[in-house]
Formats: sequence, structure tokens, C-alpha cells
Amino acid sequence: ASESLIQKLNETIENIPDFPIPGILFRDITPIFLNSKLYEEVIEDLAHFSRGKVDAVCGIESRGFLFGIAIAVALDVPFVLIRKKGKLPPPFISEKYELEYGTSEVEMREGHLKPGQRVLIHDDLLATGGTTEAAARLVEKQGAKATQFSFLIGLNGLKGEQKLEQFNAEIYKILT
Ligand code: PRP
Ligand code: ADE
Repeated sequence: ASESLIQKLNETIENIPDFPIPGILFRDITPIFLNSKLYEEVIEDLAHFSRGKVDAVCGIESRGFLFGIAIAVALDVPFVLIRKKGKLPPPFISEKYELEYGTSEVEMREGHLKPGQRVLIHDDLLATGGTTEAAARLVEKQGAKATQFSFLIGLNGLKGEQKLEQFNAEIYKILT
């Protein structure tokens, strides 16, 4: 990304200490949506990374939807939702993953991705990588390939990128 976009995002994203629990610095991306020109710049930057390289985009609920569908439209490729458990009607496939405390589950409609498709998995933020790893497993269960991952923010020190190495995909993050 350009230095100017990085600077604008750093000035716009709000960092809130001790939310939702003590010790977490919460990165609130919602002020981006107050500035449509900045939002457009973010989408173009993320679309540029993936243009000509993927056949579909998957976005992860819920903040991953806010950017993922716009990336897919900019690339003129299909968008497939990766949802938290219990939201999608059948037929769907599921994948469990570990949280820092307990487990969670993500789901995807069956048949919306086609075998052999190269897929971008997009989310707003990479932390431990557990959510994105489960999303990539869903993609691979459909016979498609997770060839790219993109994030607005990739937190360092939580080993998220290490968890994604197994997929041999390109990783892009605008901010750390
Ligand atoms: C956040 C974020 C990512 C995930 C990252 O979502 O948007 O999806 O956590 O964490 P991980 O890398 O440790 O798996 P959250 O569950 O807060 O849901 P939301 O997007 O609906 O707010
Ligand atoms: N999801 C996981 N960690 C987060 C953080 N620090 N800020 C915002 N969303 C998150």
C-alpha cells in the first residue's frame, strides 16, 4: 500500500485498550466507513493485490464481509460468505477451530465454490489465525485452493501468519 494510505488508516482506525477484555487492544475499523473516499482507496488497494489472480473471494463474518464483497465486485468474481455456525441453511459444510478459550465453528454453503478455483480469503484482521485457517479448510474441502489471504490488519506476535504457512498462499496486510 502507499505510504499515504497507511498513514490515513493509522489516523482513522481507533485503538481501544482493554476491550472486550483486559489486556486486548481493540482495533476498531468502523471509522473507515465514515469516509467513502478512504473506503474506496482501501478496496482498490486490496483488489490490486488479487486482480487476475483469483477466481472467487471468500469473506469471513462479519467484518470480513464489509470489504470482501467490494473486493469481489471490483475483481468481477463470485463472493462466498464464510459464516459463524448456525446462520446458513443446508446444504453447508462446517469446520471447528480453537479459540484462546474454547472452540468455535465456521460454515459455508456447499457448491458455491467450484473445484479448482483459486480463492482469496479476506478478513479485516488476522490475530491468532484460527478463524482464517478454518476458512481455508472449508475452501479446500470444496476442492478449491486458498491461494491468497488479505487483511487490513495483521497483528504481529500472535503467530497468525505461521498458522497460514501450510497453505503456501500469498499473504497481504495493509497494516500491522
Ligand atoms: C475477529 C476478526 C477476525 C478474527 C481474528 O472477528 O474480524 O475474524 O476475530 O481472530 P483470529 O485470527 O484469532 O482467529 P470476531 O470474531 O470478533 O467477529 P466480528 O467480525 O463479527 O466482529
Ligand atoms: N479480533 C481479534 N483480535 C482483535 C483486536 N485486537 N482488535 C479487533 N478485532 C480483533
